[in-house]
Amino acid sequence: MALKSVLIDELRDLYSAENQLVKALPNLAKGSKNPKLKSIFTDHLAETKGQVERLKKVFAELGEKPTGQHCNGMEGVIEEGKDALEKDEEGSSFEAGLIGAALRTEHYEIAGYEASISMATALGMPKIVKLLNSTLKEEVSAAKKITAAGAPIMKLSAKEPEAPKQPKTGKEKYSAKKSKEDESHAAPELGTSTTVS
Ligand SMILES: [Fe+2]
Repeated sequence: MALKSVLIDELRDLYSAENQLVKALPNLAKGSKNPKLKSIFTDHLAETKGQVERLKKVFAELGEKPTGQHCNGMEGVIEEGKDALEKDEEGSSFEAGLIGAALRTEHYEIAGYEASISMATALGMPKIVKLLNSTLKEEVSAAKKITAAGAPIMKLSAKEPEAPKQPKTGKEKYSAKKSKEDESHAAPELGTSTTVS
């Protein structure tokens, strides 16, 4: 059945994504100096460990093994989170960067679970839908908590003075070059010319 194998691929991707987050969330928790955010990241780490176990149950239901696919998307999202942790912003502006990174991880997962739930629903797999829905609820709630905790941080951050511009690191220079390429590749489709910087 074609859809079943697409579902299994999607779930293996999620299994890899959750495992990568088990490793990455402690860094966000350690990096954040805001007690509220710190506790959200720590609580979500415990939830994420449970989500790994829940996915194992889903695979047991399917009679398949959970490994077999590395989630490149989550690897990229986590990599961007590392950039936020390495930024030499201070105070609330640093925390604001972490919030952006954390929300990306949650919404990436939400997309994966929503797609998997649609597939499992279409395939008539109510047990699996129930398990996946429990995790989806946790992801949505984690994203809401991050956004809510973020609101006062953003307000404080908006009041902080702009830091003097630092010379770009090698990684930042490469990223800036790639972003120019992204823009110029899209330009013919958009019917625009590239910006000048
Ligand atoms: Fe998760």
